[in-house]
Formats: sequence, structure tokens, C-alpha cells
Amino acid sequence: MITKIVKVTEEQIRQDDSKAVHEIRQAGEIIKNGGLVAFPTETVYGLGGDALNPESSGKIYKAKGRPSDNPLIVHISRLEDLNVITEDVPEIGHVLARHFWPGPLTMIFKKSEKVPKETTGGLDTVAVRMPRHRTALALIREAGGFIAAPSANISGRPSPTLAKYVQEDMDGRIDMIIDGGIIEIGLESTIIDLTEEIPIILRPGFITREMLEAVIGTVRIDQTLMDGDSLQIPKAPGMKYRHYAPKGELTIVDGEPDHVADYINNTYHNCHNAGKKVGVIATQENLGRYQADCVKCIGRRQDEEGIAKELYRILREFDDEETEVILSESFHTTGMGQAIMNRLLKAAGHKKIQV
Ligand code: TXA
Ligand code: MG
Repeated sequence: MITKIVKVTEEQIRQDDSKAVHEIRQAGEIIKNGGLVAFPTETVYGLGGDALNPESSGKIYKAKGRPSDNPLIVHISRLEDLNVITEDVPEIGHVLARHFWPGPLTMIFKKSEKVPKETTGGLDTVAVRMPRHRTALALIREAGGFIAAPSANISGRPSPTLAKYVQEDMDGRIDMIIDGGIIEIGLESTIIDLTEEIPIILRPGFITREMLEAVIGTVRIDQTLMDGDSLQIPKAPGMKYRHYAPKGELTIVDGEPDHVADYINNTYHNCHNAGKKVGVIATQENLGRYQADCVKCIGRRQDEEGIAKELYRILREFDDEETEVILSESFHTTGMGQAIMNRLLKAAGHKKIQV
């Protein structure tokens, strides 16, 4: 299969640029006819197919090499479409939709008969999100209203934040890639399950627990997310897999900056003597402290949004450079830091040391 790549910016969509409109219409046709199109959202690039067509969902699993018990998120562009694919939406669902949609929040509801089990990995519930990226919204409309879209990476690789990473993983496997440039947020949406008595966060993201609690009161968080020793199985099937895994061995080093630097520099010398290539993920503040084959700056410590945006790109770069040992500073676990540490811990297979 030849994968067509088109460039469409959000600005072109905003201005109703005729060429961009034509490209999106064509992409919508591909999806309506059962094909797959990768497209930008505000979180990461998605790999879209018709959510109501079981064959399309099957193709998505195949293209990603993803286990078929791992459900897909259904993306909508209009609030009224929520009723088509769900049942028994609780009042807080509507409240959250009013507050955070369109945006990086995914909510889990009971599914309606319209949604095939192939899309929900066999579950009776469905994850729904209304993205705010204009290109995504335009594509959903053109594709008939319901796009199933996981992140557009091969299963087990970091989610793509640039079209070139989508191409790396999906070239020849899907019909089209819409290149919308660099992604705004860089981490996947927050997932909240509203089918339980007390709402529960299954995946932390840009919309933090604090932001959700300010609107609907108490929200729980799936304890398996931050705790590698937990014997419980995460509620979001996708969170049990060792996602976002770089090829090199990643360790998070936590402690006083001096101690962290001593540990990293010692490790570098040992690995260097053993002929291994070492990379470091460092904040701007500590950049000068480290010795390694490659030290990558993830941004200023206080700038969590900046850190979130760089994380997956850096992990992919270390893969491309065949870095064998990767050492990362640790981050706070409040606010958006929770999402950053959740992804970093998963990438590290929960290998974190205290120095
Ligand atoms: O930001 C995002 O959410 C991106 C963009 C493309 O919208 N999409 C994304 O999809 O991250 P994906 O497939 O990579 O992650 C979806 C996660 C998986 O962990 C999956 O197990 C969980 O959502 N999920 C989906 N439906 C679910 C359900 N009914 N119950 C529990 N977890 C569900
Ligand atoms: Mg994913």
C-alpha cells in the first residue's frame, strides 16, 4: 500500500483554505470507505478509522500490531453525537463535557448497540473524546462523525508528536497521513471512567485530577498507574502493556541534584568502559552537571507543559541514535507532573532509584 502524505495546518482549516478543505474531504472519504488516515490532535497523532465499522477497527489493530483486547477511543465532533454511541450518561458526564470539550479529556460510558465490540475490545463500555484540534474536528465531520483512533505509533513505541514519526511507524500500512506539524500537548488525553460510583482516572494527562475535582468533586485515581509493585490489573487495558518503551534501558534517578549527578556520571564512566552508549534526560537547570555520550534538555523544571511536549520526541531520538543506557531526572507527581511521571515510569518499566 502506498501511503499518501498531505500537509494541512490548523490555520488553513480555520481560514477554510480550499486546498485544505479538499484534502480533508478526501481523507473523510477514505475513512467512510473503510480505510485508515493518521491525523493530528492536540495531544498526539491519531490513527483513524470508522468507529462504527468493525472491519476498520480490525485494520487499526493490524496496522499498529496492537492486541485486540485493547479498546479504542471514539472521537466525535458534536455534543449531540454522544447519545448515538452511549447509554446512561450520568449528569457529571454532561458537566465535564461542557467544561473540557472540545479538549484532551476522554470519558468512559456504557456503550450503545451502534458501537461494535471490535472497537471496544469486547467491552460494554466506550471511551469518547471530542478533540479541540481543528483539523481533527473537520476530519471527524467529513468521515461521518465517529472516528476510532489510538495513537498513531506501532504498539510499544512512544506516541508520535510529529508526522515524521507517524511515517516512520505507519508508512505502507495506512492510506494517508495528514501532516499538521508539531503537536501542542505531546501526551495522550486524560481518561476518566464515569461508569463507577466515584469517577476514576485511568490515565493521567493534561487535564489534571485537581482540574476535574474543581468541577465534579472527589475523583479517584487508579493506583496501579504510579505503582510498579501493584498486583492489581489497571482498569484501562492499554495501561497494562509496557508502552512507550525505548530500545535502551531507561532508569529514573531521584534525589538531590548533586547526588543525581554523581550517580549519573559514575554510571556513565562504568558504561563507557564497558563500551556502552549512554544518554541523559536533563532539565535546563542541571544540564551542565552531567557527563554522557548525549545529554538532552527536556526544558526548565517548572515548565511542565514544555517537558510533556518534549518527552516522546527525546525517547524516539535515543532509539534512533541507538543509545543503550538512558538515565533521566525525576519529576514531581502533582498536577501535570503526574502524567509525565506516569509515562516515564512506564517507559522505564518502573525502574526508579533513589540516591
Ligand atoms: O490523546 C489521546 O487519547 C490519543 C489521541 C489520538 O486522541 N489517543 C490515544 O489512544 O491515546 P490509545 O488507543 O493509544 O489509548 C487509549 C487508552 C488505552 O489505554 C485503552 O486501554 C483505554 O484508552 N480505553 C479505551 N477504551 C476503554 C474502555 N472502554 N475502558 C477502559 N479503558 C479504555
Ligand atoms: Mg497509545
